[in-house]
Amino acid sequence: MRVGVLTGGGDCPGLNAVIRAVVRKGTQEYGHTFAGFRDGWRGALRGDVRPLDIAAVRGILPRGGTVLGSSRTNPFREDDGVRRIKETLAKEEIEALIAIGGEDTLGVAARLWEEHGVPCVGVPKTIDNDLSATDYTFGFDTAVGVATEAIDRLHTTAESHMRVLVVEVMGRHAGWIALHSGLAGGANVVLIPEQRFDIEQVCAWIESRFRVRYAPIVVVAEGAMPKDGQMVLKDGSTDAFGHVRLSGVGEWLAAEIERRTGKEARTTVLGHTQRGGTPSAFDRWLATRFGLHAVDAVHARDFGSMVALRGTDIVRVPLAEATAQLKTVDPALYAEAGVFFG
Ligand code: F6P
Repeated sequence: MRVGVLTGGGDCPGLNAVIRAVVRKGTQEYGHTFAGFRDGWRGALRGDVRPLDIAAVRGILPRGGTVLGSSRTNPFREDDGVRRIKETLAKEEIEALIAIGGEDTLGVAARLWEEHGVPCVGVPKTIDNDLSATDYTFGFDTAVGVATEAIDRLHTTAESHMRVLVVEVMGRHAGWIALHSGLAGGANVVLIPEQRFDIEQVCAWIESRFRVRYAPIVVVAEGAMPKDGQMVLKDGSTDAFGHVRLSGVGEWLAAEIERRTGKEARTTVLGHTQRGGTPSAFDRWLATRFGLHAVDAVHARDFGSMVALRGTDIVRVPLAEATAQLKTVDPALYAEAGVFFG
């Protein structure tokens, strides 16, 4: 069988580990051949394809990013998108497609299979860890590691200057990175998109922290929102899936904290450092296993499915189910962290 592979959406540490595992197992055990689409669905639309054999995937396991490139192209927003994808598959004699992506990329794969019969298998990725059908997505552990290291470093400089340091981490709809890195790094306040925050309460926690002569670290997810207000945005621009560009809440918080408490406050926006660079050992392990099982799913012609982690097992779930609901932080889990606030 000839199989197409693409990586779509925001890049994520571990993508190359998936590609390598797919090609290694698919070639060695099943005798399949592979073609990589450049830049996600854009390559499928344009027929931009590169050969993918064992030699092409040598040495990529520890590399961040994706050797195939990525984009947020949405074929359902392009003229004749589905017909163009089918044309590329026919021209390249591709019989199945492995789509590695988050809710948007996998949502496209689910529709292509269900509505148009394009044989797709999905692999979940996102540093946000917000796909409900899998216990973890790869990329998340690396992002949490980067954020935790930053928080560790910020503690000493915050204390030297007795300042408030606000750390803005990624997390559009879900506060997983904020919660995990905030707990691991010993933050004094963690703010997540799932629970609107009360700025007066935040300032009260900050003041109580200063009373014990320690400088507070506030971790805020980019999608967190104040109780009486809107999401804080830099500008209103959106991508092809209609998501507005985030970031800005960290700056807003620092200004508000300074105004209300009179304490000096600064913001560090971690941004894309959380997505870049070499994947953690856990992410390489998870991504590799996802790749191995995705190629098994293709070989078994179990199209419309996605691989997922349940406990320590890799299982297959319907793609449609995987993209139906976001996995957000449970209020009880967030409440658990509250003992460290202030
Ligand atoms: O979905 C992953 C993610 O990193 C989000 O946390 C973030 O909001 C978004 O991508 C940023 O996207 P971009 O790199 O396109 O600005």
